[in-house]
Amino acid sequence: MPKAWIQERKKDYYYKKAKEEKYRSRAVYKLFQAVKKYKFIGKGDTVVDLGAAPGGWIQAASKIVGKEGFVLGVDLKPIDTFSRDNIHTIVGNINDEETLEQILKILPEKADVVISDVSPNISGIWEVDHARQIDLAERSLEIALDILRPSGNFFVKVFQGDMLNDFVEKVEKHFRIVKIFKPKASRAKSSEMFVLGLFLKQGS
Ligand SMILES: C[S@@+](CC[C@H](N)C(=O)[O-])C[C@H]1O[C@@H](n2cnc3c(N)ncnc32)[C@H](O)[C@@H]1O
Repeated sequence: MPKAWIQERKKDYYYKKAKEEKYRSRAVYKLFQAVKKYKFIGKGDTVVDLGAAPGGWIQAASKIVGKEGFVLGVDLKPIDTFSRDNIHTIVGNINDEETLEQILKILPEKADVVISDVSPNISGIWEVDHARQIDLAERSLEIALDILRPSGNFFVKVFQGDMLNDFVEKVEKHFRIVKIFKPKASRAKSSEMFVLGLFLKQGS
């Protein structure tokens, strides 16, 4: 990691807050802020978190759903275990059918919410990173359509760019309400945004 980037991170408000509050990533605040505004995860929900390592969003989701809820995290990388027994994690590539089969096997019931913060390795070439991010967001949408209950919700990271509109249209086909959201905790200079699909339509 470049030294300047590490120094900048150490000064970052949400980075420090995450350390103090013992969260695994500063990204937790993006999820908390989005849920506070749109209330798309509730107590007792079953949540599937795609691209979940190191586990910040899992911690946030688990706090929101409480003891009656269930959170399943999926990532290419292994995720350190949690003390709560309503959290389960698997190592897998979301592009592999096998990973979807594993998710379906573990879920106690259809999911109420699918959240995806999945990100490719950043190349620094804007068009490449945008296209890769949209690919992963589309795969996250496919998985969501397979595992969500009717009226379930979907929240996914995207990067701004010319493929974003087409992706948003796809989400609009399947969800009754679609919002695009940039949480305060998302760095202003980052092209990251989140697409939220609320209330999966019947027959999707
Ligand atoms: C920004 S991080 C997620 C941070 C997480 N939300 C948190 O709060 O701790 C993105 C993750 O996506 C994962 N990822 C990238 N491509 C993936 C794929 N094809 N399948 C599964 N996970 C993937 C990466 O390994 C990385 O851990």
